[in-house]
Amino acid sequence: MRMSRAAASLPLLLLVVVALLAAAEARRHKDGDEKACDKGWECSGSRFCCNDTITDYFKAYQFEELFANRNDPSLAHAAGFWDYQAFITAAALFEPRGFGTTGGKEVGMKEVAAFLGHVGAKTSCGYSVATGGPLAWGLCYNHELSPSQSYCDNSNELYPCVEGVEYYGRGALPVYWNYNYGVIGQGIKQDLLNHPELLEQNATLAFEAAIWRWMTPMKRKQPSAHDVFVGNWKPTKNDTLSKRYPGFGATMNILYGDLICGQGSIDKMNVIVSHYRHYLDLMGVGSDNAGDNLDCADQVAFNPSSKNLDS
Ligand SMILES: *[C@@H]1O[C@H](CO)[C@@H](O)[C@H](O)[C@H]1NC(C)=O
Ligand SMILES: *[C@@H]1O[C@H](CO)[C@@H](O)[C@H](O)[C@H]1NC(C)=O
Ligand SMILES: *[C@@H]1O[C@H](CO)[C@@H](O)[C@H](O)[C@H]1NC(C)=O
Repeated sequence: MRMSRAAASLPLLLLVVVALLAAAEARRHKDGDEKACDKGWECSGSRFCCNDTITDYFKAYQFEELFANRNDPSLAHAAGFWDYQAFITAAALFEPRGFGTTGGKEVGMKEVAAFLGHVGAKTSCGYSVATGGPLAWGLCYNHELSPSQSYCDNSNELYPCVEGVEYYGRGALPVYWNYNYGVIGQGIKQDLLNHPELLEQNATLAFEAAIWRWMTPMKRKQPSAHDVFVGNWKPTKNDTLSKRYPGFGATMNILYGDLICGQGSIDKMNVIVSHYRHYLDLMGVGSDNAGDNLDCADQVAFNPSSKNLDS
């Protein structure tokens, strides 16, 4: 008798326990539980607060491995400029919004590899005979060396060019043109329209500008590179017709549009994918886990190139 009554009440007891745990979990998320989730950044109110942060799984030695040749005395063009701390300081500003903190540690590591893959490819001075191969030369530059023009679009009234200021490529995901310096400067609360040189003088700001681009949709109702990568985005029917699916390929579509995408298997695209895959290997995630829809060879651009934040 006793036994069977206990057995009968066991499911009820479990139900109560589960309900209590769920309530506690909900409360924890609501209050942010700042003490238990202190991760070294201002995270109260963020639903990513208690998750692994970038410094938990991406250490200084790994940054050194990814960008092993950036201080090479004979070949690097920005020796001494880029460092781990600048990346971490900039990243911390975006972790409360999900950068590197969405979906658990593996997704976080992949997002860091993806973001840095773009950075590495865009700042590389690698060539096949260079030490370590062509993928070992990310963060070799912090600005465009021989600009062919000053990248001033006088027709832009919102962000007019400032007299005597040049808007050539600078930063971790190089920024070109007055209007791009204008909108990104507004995003990171720096006067980049008057002082674009900040992106080649301050590595923290250079990373901040790049992560802002990664995290920010270029148009209302469009996803950010972050969104398409971490699974925050559901393609519409139009997206599917345009061959745009979640994955690394769509991040290239958002950042570069038809300058890189929809042109088949071109080198300019493949070198970005290669950097991402190489960094996954170096970080121990493995390039086999790079995910589906790696390239954008067949994708129609989200926006035509004149509307992209690239030259
Ligand atoms: C936090 O991490 C867990 C796994 O560790 C993951 O399942 C969850 O989605 C993450 N939270 C958010 C808000 O991404
Ligand atoms: C770089 O910019 C950040 C953010 O404005 C600032 O805190 C830092 O002091 C700057 N670093 C240098 C070396 O100027
Ligand atoms: C659908 O895609 C086409 C081609 O990319 C584009 O011209 C059109 O504006 C899109 N429609 C919507 C509703 O987004």
